[in-house]
Amino acid sequence: MNDSPIGIFDSGLGGVYILKKLVKKLPCENIIYVADHKHIPYGKRTKKEIQDRSLAISNWLLKKKCKLIIVACNTATTNAIKLLRKKIEIPIIGVEPAIKPATKKSVSKKIGVLATQGTLKSELFNNTKSAYASDIDVIMQIGFGLVNIVENGEAQKFSTEQILTKNLKILIDNNVDTIVLGCTHYSFLIPTIKKLVPKKIKILDSTKAVVNHTKNVLYKESVLTKNLWKGQVSFYSTGKIKKNIWKKFDIDNVSKIKI
Ligand code: DGL
Repeated sequence: MNDSPIGIFDSGLGGVYILKKLVKKLPCENIIYVADHKHIPYGKRTKKEIQDRSLAISNWLLKKKCKLIIVACNTATTNAIKLLRKKIEIPIIGVEPAIKPATKKSVSKKIGVLATQGTLKSELFNNTKSAYASDIDVIMQIGFGLVNIVENGEAQKFSTEQILTKNLKILIDNNVDTIVLGCTHYSFLIPTIKKLVPKKIKILDSTKAVVNHTKNVLYKESVLTKNLWKGQVSFYSTGKIKKNIWKKFDIDNVSKIKI
C-alpha cells in the first residue's frame, strides 16, 4: 500500500496547483493526476452530473490502486464528496472554500468568495457558510471567464487583468478585507489578483490546508511511502490533449483516457 499512488482529479488544470505543492511536500510519493477535460467546466453542471463524473474518475483511480484520492476541485468536493466517501473505501480528501479561516482573519467582518456557480449553489457550501459565517457579511461572486483563462495558460496576460477587475469589482466595492478563492483554477491567478486589489485585502485559498491534511492522513493510515527517491507523477486527460498548454504548466507527458 505504501508505494501505491495518490490519486488527484479536477475538471481540468486547476488541481495542478495543488499537485505542485503536494510534490514539494511529499516528493517521494507516486501520484496520478486526472483532468476531466471532456467535461469541463464542472461549475455549470448539475449536481448529478458532477457526482457521476466524480464517482467514475474515483473508481478509475481505485483501479489504478490509489491509496488516497484528493478531489482537487471545490465544485466536485461541495457536490460529491459525501457520495464518494460512501462509495469509495479509501480516504477521500476534498477542497472547500476557506470560509472558516476567512471569518477568523476578517477584521471588518466582510468577506468575499469567488467560486463557481456549482460551488456557491451547493448544500455543503451553504451549510458551512451558515455554521461559521452567520454574523459575517459574505459577498459571493461567480467567477466569469476565469477557468478558461487558466485552461488557456493565460494567467499572466494583460487581458486577464481586465477580466479579473470585473470579477473583483463587487468585492472591492463592498469593502471586503478578505477574499476566499473557492476554485482551484483561481489559485493560479493569485499574483495578478494581488496586483489588482487594495493591499489590506487578504487572499485565501485552501491549497496549504489540503496538502498538510493529506500528509497527516497518510501518516495516520501508515501508508506514507518509505521510498527515498523521487516518486513518479503521471498525467491523464479525458479530453483532447493540448500539449502546448500542458507544457506551460511544465508537464510534458499526458495520456488520453476514456472514463
Ligand atoms: N477547478 C474547479 C473548482 O475548484 C472547477 C472549475 C470548473 O468549473 O470546471 O471548483
